[in-house]
Amino acid sequence: METEKKLLAAREAERRKIAREIHDGSAQSLAAILLRLDLMAAENLSNNPEEIRRELQQIKEIVQDCLNEMRQILFDLKPVRENISLLSVMEDFFADIKAKYGFIVEFKTKGIPQIYPVYMQTAIFRLVQEAVNNSRKHAGVSKVQIILSESKEQLEILIEDQGSGFDTNRAFINENRFGIAGMQERVDLLEGRMKIQSKPGAGTQILIEIPLKGRN
Ligand SMILES: Nc1ncnc2c1ncn2[C@@H]1O[C@H](COP(=O)(O)OP(=O)(O)O)[C@@H](O)[C@H]1O
Ligand SMILES: [Mg+2]
Repeated sequence: METEKKLLAAREAERRKIAREIHDGSAQSLAAILLRLDLMAAENLSNNPEEIRRELQQIKEIVQDCLNEMRQILFDLKPVRENISLLSVMEDFFADIKAKYGFIVEFKTKGIPQIYPVYMQTAIFRLVQEAVNNSRKHAGVSKVQIILSESKEQLEILIEDQGSGFDTNRAFINENRFGIAGMQERVDLLEGRMKIQSKPGAGTQILIEIPLKGRN
């Protein structure tokens, strides 16, 4: 596929992912709030302040969840800054994740990654972001290890957690999940390779190789 088509495909995958997140999260919360308000309006609660207070408390909790989900989506959408090293972009993200969720990213580098063209920095960062978010959301662990190694020929990213693991065949065929599919699209765009090793109960290991020859 030519680059333009790949870019388009990656963008479409990203849009589907965001749409799915809004659909599963905030949109569902808002629908639940509406339903509760309808019920309240239908019942005659004027003589029951205790019931009104209880209902309002529950609605408040749903609004709070909704707000958290919204903030999560906005946080993930933050654009990758230009003209700064990939390292600092990642370190900022890891610090945010730690502050927000207490989730630890153990990060090591071999060789010093350079400043790549912005489309590459963005793609690489989004790959790492999705993998870290997946370990945080799905693996049931409190940390993930990342090793970034740069050589003349390629950039290698190894992301590993000791969590619940999953059936990779299933995850790939699930039409409603776009995170890993989006990672694959980005890797294709960079003409790289991605290998995911995971089994239920046995943790997850993702190896991404991105060729650098002729890029810098
Ligand atoms: N590190 C991981 N540990 C355990 N399960 C995972 C991990 N990464 C992905 N999964 C599983 O694969 C599914 C698909 O992941 P993904 O495509 O990123 O979609 P999403 O994160 O939106 O669910 C997840 O729903 C989860 O069940
Ligand atoms: Mg995901």
